Amino acid sequence: MLIMENVTMAVDGDDGENREIIHDINLEFQPGRLYAVTGPNGGGKTSIAKVIMGIYKHSRGRILFDGEDVSELSVSERAKKGIAYAFQQPPRFKGLTVTDLLGIAKPGMDNLAMRKYLRDVGLCPEDYMERDVGPGLSGGEMKRIEIAQVLAREARLSIFDEPEAGVDLWTIQKLLGIIIQRFKNNDHATAVIITHNENVLPICDEIIVVEDGLIKERGTPAEIWPLIKDDIECKMKEQCRGEMLYEIE
Ligand SMILES: Nc1ncnc2c1ncn2[C@@H]1O[C@H](COP(=O)(O)OP(=O)(O)OP(=O)(O)O)[C@@H](O)[C@H]1O
Ligand SMILES: [Mg+2]
Repeated sequence: MLIMENVTMAVDGDDGENREIIHDINLEFQPGRLYAVTGPNGGGKTSIAKVIMGIYKHSRGRILFDGEDVSELSVSERAKKGIAYAFQQPPRFKGLTVTDLLGIAKPGMDNLAMRKYLRDVGLCPEDYMERDVGPGLSGGEMKRIEIAQVLAREARLSIFDEPEAGVDLWTIQKLLGIIIQRFKNNDHATAVIITHNENVLPICDEIIVVEDGLIKERGTPAEIWPLIKDDIECKMKEQCRGEMLYEIE
């Protein structure tokens, strides 16, 4: 479905130096599979997602979607082909309401469907449909609206960039559960979840570990989870003073 062939991306830093962020990435996402991308902060996960979506332009290599080279296509052209991306830090659009945003995500969507998508991400439709998607929304509210609009797109390839980031502990499992439920064993849609969540990683079809702008590991959860489990458990312990936040299933 989507293939990255030797994709390299570089940016001009503030010092004027051209810096390579991701190096010679070769990846293939197949139809109907659920992928997890994980790895340390600054490893290049978001950059890979933005290159796929066309937000960042790669400097070398090719990106093929259904066999077509989409490297030169704009973000909106790639969206029309069936690629969707939920930002790690969603952009705000002052002057647009939540209803407007969902309507843009899926033109013609009726009120009932909009309400369902909002409820799915834990937002009460009555309270949010007419809210402005500007600075008045909290980070967690914005994140949920972003996820709702990507779910509403029903794209063939959906990329969720740390859906758990900034979302309260009570909602994380529900939100991730909605994404898993939609994409696990769904032959028609492929999802890539950029995540560190120890409940999601073991149940994806494949885990990809990105570090230093490279694919460090790639394989089934049975192969990869034992390699990264200790690191993640260790981080969780640090974060909650020795107590695990969730039981690992
Ligand atoms: N537009 C940019 N300009 C300059 N540097 C950038 C830009 N985008 C990304 N980088 C740098 O590239 C590296 C990879 O960033 P990226 O956001 O892809 O990492 P990540 O794996 O998503 O990290 P995190 O887990 O913190 O979200 C980082 O060092 C980051 O500072
Ligand atoms: Mg990121």
